[in-house]
Amino acid sequence: PVQQTYSIASIPADGIGPEVIDAGIQVLNTLSETLGSFRFDFKHYDWSSDTYKKTGKYIPDGGLDQLKKHDAIFFGAVGAPEDVPDHISLWGLRLAICQTFQQYANVRPTKVFRGTQSPLRKCEPKDLDWVIIRENSEGEYAGQGGRSHRGQPWETATEVAIFSRHGVERIMRFAFETAQRRPRKLLTLVTKSNAQRNGMVLWDEVAEEISQEFPEVTMDKMLVDAMTCRMVLKPESIDTIVATNLHADILSDLAAALAGSIGIAPTSNLDPTRQNPSMFEPIHGSAFDITGKGVANPVATFWTAAEMLAWLGEEEASQKLLECVENVCERGIVTADLGGSAKTVEVTNAVCDEIKKLA
Ligand code: NAI
Ligand code: MG
Repeated sequence: PVQQTYSIASIPADGIGPEVIDAGIQVLNTLSETLGSFRFDFKHYDWSSDTYKKTGKYIPDGGLDQLKKHDAIFFGAVGAPEDVPDHISLWGLRLAICQTFQQYANVRPTKVFRGTQSPLRKCEPKDLDWVIIRENSEGEYAGQGGRSHRGQPWETATEVAIFSRHGVERIMRFAFETAQRRPRKLLTLVTKSNAQRNGMVLWDEVAEEISQEFPEVTMDKMLVDAMTCRMVLKPESIDTIVATNLHADILSDLAAALAGSIGIAPTSNLDPTRQNPSMFEPIHGSAFDITGKGVANPVATFWTAAEMLAWLGEEEASQKLLECVENVCERGIVTADLGGSAKTVEVTNAVCDEIKKLA
């Protein structure tokens, strides 16, 4: 049989990024060696805040063209707030990739793993199993706005949220497709169309239109503030969520915390047209407070790796990997953020051993 090779760009970047991406690559290589039906060809890009400090750029000239040749991008975290302002690092690397490659769908699954605990009382693993679909190209994060009269008492700054029919339609269709593939076929549309009476009303209208194409999917609607209450009080009533760039950014951090830790949550930045490579990364940032201590939770990156496998078409391998990770959590081999005492390397080795049992 022909062995499929996937060309993956790895961009570990800053802080704990390199620690968790190393762990992720070790786990992916162990999986491919054990299963034998595919392999990975990783190419490493050392683009980071250090590069920026040395060269004034995160991505060198021609860098995005190089990146475009890969099947997927495996990303760590960017941000070195002591040295580079966060808006420079985010726009210099992560958003430069997301925007250029039209990765308009940001997918953030959350669930309570076996062996981990939600901070919510009485929340069993079956009660919290969500996918948040975040619009990833528009809203407040599209770069519209400016600053005038700098330094004056009347200094003015605007952060303009933009919503295009094209942009809303494509994310809505993606969200309905996602909901349709899940057993409950339930989509919650989150907006703030009482106060934000232009863009959010467009969201409501487009959602109604697209819902006609998906008669099997039940859609309900929530205002974003009320949604935070529902997530905390009735987690079992939720399945798939679609929301704007800003709203879903915030809701997905809440979701990760409700599932037990930001250290387990993955995210995919997808170009559903598949014209460009998609990018896969843990939700968390560079976490300089724990960098170099060997205690970063690698589980978010392992789950990220599983999401990447599924996108590449290796659904079965993806499920097996996640199963192995959950087995290790269930045995109590977890890092401090999940209440354990294992180091990054211990969790990684335990997952690799679990994978080898698949042979
Ligand atoms: P953060 O996610 O880096 O850290 C928040 C807290 O969670 C810290 O206490 C940290 O130790 C803990 N934490 C995060 N990941 C963990 C893991 N894998 N295991 C155990 N504990 C973990 O968020 P923060 O502090 O707001 O941002 C730090 C930097 O990261 C900033 O420069 C920010 O801009 C950047 N950032 C980058 C992101 C990205 O590249 N996609 C996403 C979020 C933040
Ligand atoms: Mg965030």
